[in-house]
Amino acid sequence: MASHPLIEKFQQAGQGQVFAFFDELAPEAQRHLLLEAAEIDLAEVARLTASLLAPGDAAGANLAGLAPAPYEPLPAQGGDAAAWMKAKAAGEAALRAGRVAAFTVAGGQGTRLGYDGPKGTFPVTPLKRKTLFQVFAEKIQAAGIRYGRPLHWFIMTSHQNHAATVTFFEEHRYFGLDQGRVHFFRQGRMPAVDFSGRILLETKGTIALSPDGHGGSLRALERSGALDLMQREGIDTLSYFQVDNPLVRCVDPAFIGWHVLRGSQMSSKMVPKAYPEEKLGHFCTQDGRLVVVEYSDLPMAMQRETTPEGQLRYLAGSIAIHMLDREFIRRVARGGAGIELPFHRADKKIPTVDAAGQPVKPEKANGVKFEMFVFDALPFAQNPLVIETSRADDFSPVKNAEGVDSPLTCRDDQLRQFTRWLRGQGARVEADASGRPAAGLEVSPLFGYDEDSFAEAWKKHSPPPVVSDGLYLS
Ligand code: UTP
Repeated sequence: MASHPLIEKFQQAGQGQVFAFFDELAPEAQRHLLLEAAEIDLAEVARLTASLLAPGDAAGANLAGLAPAPYEPLPAQGGDAAAWMKAKAAGEAALRAGRVAAFTVAGGQGTRLGYDGPKGTFPVTPLKRKTLFQVFAEKIQAAGIRYGRPLHWFIMTSHQNHAATVTFFEEHRYFGLDQGRVHFFRQGRMPAVDFSGRILLETKGTIALSPDGHGGSLRALERSGALDLMQREGIDTLSYFQVDNPLVRCVDPAFIGWHVLRGSQMSSKMVPKAYPEEKLGHFCTQDGRLVVVEYSDLPMAMQRETTPEGQLRYLAGSIAIHMLDREFIRRVARGGAGIELPFHRADKKIPTVDAAGQPVKPEKANGVKFEMFVFDALPFAQNPLVIETSRADDFSPVKNAEGVDSPLTCRDDQLRQFTRWLRGQGARVEADASGRPAAGLEVSPLFGYDEDSFAEAWKKHSPPPVVSDGLYLS
């Protein structure tokens, strides 16, 4: 076999199989494989293999001393209305001062949805079929206008979808946003390994590499220079949300205000779990720190526990909406001093090649991917905070092609939201018992992107718009 220092390094680490077909490859393909291999931190792979793949390593999460985390309830749920008002005012001041940027993690593979293309390019709105990216772009633009400070928007992509994402924005002229304020960067990749820790090839000349999880966003923000850019622009707070959730308030003044007033380094929104089996992570405390315990890690008996009042004890579900302090991100990204985001193992079907180099499409899991989760940064944050939100205002993700969290459920939740806003202004809208209107409706974020901005726009509209099938408020 050809000799190369990198190939020797892989051989010494017991990963020589990565170059098993090297000699058969054309020079260009050889160069490409060497570049992919250079991305891999062999010591990290060895550490993860030892810690996550050791036989009998199914012990599960450490549950010692776990308790439900406290959170700030909404005023409608018994929370302190004056404190919420104060938080909102503080958040609005931060937005007017240009201290906040929006951040979308869009590097996932979206396998469950099965859509061919970056998930952000998936059409979601009921009438106009706007894409997820367009919905966020318009919300961000409208908030910038409302607070007199155009927002910066950071978008994390993956190697797989980066070019297609940027092209999509270019084709749509950044949906009216100033191009200089939209910043794309790629997240890191990790190699998949078989159950004995050997790095898998995807083809004879490519390694099975996949995105390193949404937790990789913290490293990627630092590596890409995004944090330095924020610093130069006087931005100290990042509003984090996922690409699949068009209901999200991209910048929510009350949430920003709670975060800022508490001096929190990382804050999160929770919704009360709808039923014990609901697949949400749980906000908990452990050893005096805030943690999220995944649904798969919390025994079902605990998920079903109730308080004397009959409420779920582990009630606070995580919906992946966070507020992060810039320098906190830097600290976690750099690691050291006891701070390190752990990797998690996910057993997957990983297309690969056999010993003869023939493609293999496995029918069951044949290996492991390693991913970091952003909520694992919470235990390292000072003054972390959880606040309640209502699902109807913040959460209806598109995860699956059908059934729960699908394009259909998301469309209906958008329709219900528009109906609530309209009814809140006294408009008559016919709807079923769930609040879903009989008519097709849509409110452009440029008209109103939350209850307050909608109310302001409505009041300016004279005479008030008539609600009929196909109404589009823009
Ligand atoms: P999901 O957990 O829904 O994963 O990501 P996914 O890869 O998008 O979808 P499936 O599981 O293959 O169906 C939640 C959010 O985190 C982002 C996704 O883009 C989505 O916004 N994410 C996930 C990343 O940015 N990078 C990752 O490596 C993983």
